[in-house]
Amino acid sequence: MSDELELIGPELREHIERVLITSAEIEAKLGGIAERLDRDYAGKELLVVGVLKGAFVVMADLARHLTIPVSVDFMAVSSYGSSTKSSGVVRILKDLDADIEGRHVLLVEDIIDSGLTLDYLLKNLRSRRPATIEVFSLLSKPGKQKVDVDVRYPGFDVDDVFVVGYGLDFAERYRNLPFIATLEQSAYS
Ligand code: IMP
Ligand code: MG
Repeated sequence: MSDELELIGPELREHIERVLITSAEIEAKLGGIAERLDRDYAGKELLVVGVLKGAFVVMADLARHLTIPVSVDFMAVSSYGSSTKSSGVVRILKDLDADIEGRHVLLVEDIIDSGLTLDYLLKNLRSRRPATIEVFSLLSKPGKQKVDVDVRYPGFDVDDVFVVGYGLDFAERYRNLPFIATLEQSAYS
């Protein structure tokens, strides 16, 4: 068994097929992104906006790597229900608490698949006239994007497979895995 799988209990481990990105790899990536953010936003007030629920883990870990002062806020959107295909329909379940006009905003996403969720969010947030708005996405599936999205801070590329862990769910499960993994077919039945 890989070291990563030893971190979790047997019930959660049961349907995991393969660990794609280890917790150490994620940690190193966040350190590098945070260094860039520290430089790019030095002397500015950064508002980090997490897209719930998927971004809650990466957002918390990224924030702790940053050494500049930041504020955080969250939006909750629903794009999939519990299925694994993008519908393109985005519903805002929770909006930001604060006005972002004139502010420097970093939108934090868990994964960009079709890009439809991010595209919708960016259009929506840009209409509120922030000073700047950039995107950090932990994961991206190249070749799957149906719309062009400009991601200033990309994390990892993954193949066109459904992944879970580190915030990402299947039917609300697996968000608490400390790594990114694929599921065996048996998980879906
Ligand atoms: P998009 O609108 O197709 O880009 O999908 C974005 C959202 O779908 C993400 O924020 C995730 O919540 C969810 N999603 C897309 N691909 C995956 C995946 O492989 N695993 C888990 N959730 C996913
Ligand atoms: Mg989901």
